Amino acid sequence: MTKTALITGATSGIGRATAHEFAKHGIHLILCGRRQERLHTIQQALSKQTQVHTLNFDVRDKDATFNAITSLPDDFKTIDILINNAGNAHGLDPIQSGNIDDWDAMMDINVKGLLYVSKAIIPQMTERKSGHIINIGSSAGKEVYPKGNVYCGSKHAVLAITEGMRIDLNPFGIKVTAINPGLVETEFSQVRFKGDAIADNVYKGYKALQAEDIAEVIQFAISRPAHVNIADVLLFCTAQANSTIVKKDS
Ligand SMILES: NC(=O)c1ccc[n+]([C@@H]2O[C@H](COP(=O)([O-])OP(=O)(O)OC[C@H]3O[C@@H](n4cnc5c(N)ncnc54)[C@H](OP(=O)(O)O)[C@@H]3O)[C@@H](O)[C@H]2O)c1
Repeated sequence: MTKTALITGATSGIGRATAHEFAKHGIHLILCGRRQERLHTIQQALSKQTQVHTLNFDVRDKDATFNAITSLPDDFKTIDILINNAGNAHGLDPIQSGNIDDWDAMMDINVKGLLYVSKAIIPQMTERKSGHIINIGSSAGKEVYPKGNVYCGSKHAVLAITEGMRIDLNPFGIKVTAINPGLVETEFSQVRFKGDAIADNVYKGYKALQAEDIAEVIQFAISRPAHVNIADVLLFCTAQANSTIVKKDS
């Protein structure tokens, strides 16, 4: 039977690549993000392969999140796969000089936004006793690095919430997966450094993971047999050993 997936943060990077990967497999798509024009462009491109619906909302806005998901047309109401991907780092500062607006953004989007979207969708999964939730965490959710303080805190929270979900949703047969990438070459660094020149150097001198690499792992996770749940994946490019060791061309 054809499945339907809802992907947050589908306008860029890992979310967009996952939408393209799922479309190849005929999975029906609900694509979410704040940039309407991009949603429209991706919908037009992927509609040749599968059915696509878009939802334009900010995951920080609780009411907008619930209204968007309630507004889904009948054909898209049953969500089999939820990809909680929307998120970003904002800034890279020592804790003593960190920017409070950056902290708010990371906690509100990466943690609370993930919870709002999950809250809006989990009841239909528990009712049907089926579903698969994939939360995009980070290697920053497993290891803290200098100046990573709050971003690492938000991704540690994502990992704890993912593990909590796996426990609480266990009686319902719902799969819960954590995908934790290291450095992935997306718009992530542009957002983190607010377009500053430093953003251009983040992926220089080595081959970082590409968004498509993560999308392929996500596709693998959702295509396992019913009795198999990929619980937790930590994924680095070959040049990266951990959060602080990256082999770069000299
Ligand atoms: N790139 C990396 O190195 C890396 C490493 C580990 C983990 N991750 C995680 O991977 C996920 C995807 O990141 P990416 O690398 O693909 O970055 P990206 O290219 O910047 O994409 C981020 C996506 O999140 C959406 N988003 C951001 N804030 C939002 C909000 N308030 N409401 C709704 N959507 C929002 C953006 O869409 P709109 O702007 O259109 O809303 C965009 O589609 C994030 O959770 C990130 O923390 C990334």
